[in-house]
Amino acid sequence: MSGAQRAVQGIGGAPVITIDGPTASGKGTVAARVAAALGFHLLDSGALYRLVALQSVRGDVAVDDVPSLVRIAESLDIRFTDSAILLEGRDVADALRFEAIGVRASSIAVHGPVREALVTRQRAFCTAPGLVADGRDMGTVIFPDAGVKIFLTASVEARAERRYKQLNDKGFSVNMDDLLKDLRERDARDMQRTVAPLKPAPDAHLLDTSSMGIDEAVEQVLNWSQAARAA
Ligand code: DC
Repeated sequence: MSGAQRAVQGIGGAPVITIDGPTASGKGTVAARVAAALGFHLLDSGALYRLVALQSVRGDVAVDDVPSLVRIAESLDIRFTDSAILLEGRDVADALRFEAIGVRASSIAVHGPVREALVTRQRAFCTAPGLVADGRDMGTVIFPDAGVKIFLTASVEARAERRYKQLNDKGFSVNMDDLLKDLRERDARDMQRTVAPLKPAPDAHLLDTSSMGIDEAVEQVLNWSQAARAA
């Protein structure tokens, strides 16, 4: 294997680009656009935590009942398609976007055993021709050997505005003050947890998108990716 190939290699042998960052930073959109531009697979790891959260609501499982949450994580029957997220054969993509499910996912994600139960599932996404992985610990824990790591941030106000617009466009009624409070609390919980906290990998590129459009952010990630391949 050449040095250039090794530079972008991930765990499964295919190149990996990790995009980590706080909630509503735009990383999901950027990750999807970068994956489409490169013809790579996409891992939305937050959706896995949200799926565990949704199943826990359905099964009336408390957010601190770790053994039951691990059982849910291990037995999730899910399939991702281009336009849907199927849980036991039913599309739950819209249900997963509810703020309450995101908040619950963040509470569930503090438990080490639950995170462990999702590791293999996440790494299985790493197949040819390559993967763009979006989350909180993609570059630090799940794909530490990824050739390109991005930490995408934006101010909490910019993120609240984006999330407001996103939810409004989907027809959900939202209150800006509640949204800001939720984002701040979720940031604190995701950054302060002891297991796999949200933080940039030491070798991550930092990208602040507070006053940057999606096109510009996508272009910057593609430039870094190209530079790593050429190295
Ligand atoms: O990216 P998201 O908003 O869909 O993620 C929902 C929650 O899941 C997030 O607040 C924390 C958790 N999460 C995590 O702990 N690790 C990941 N890799 C992805 C998400």
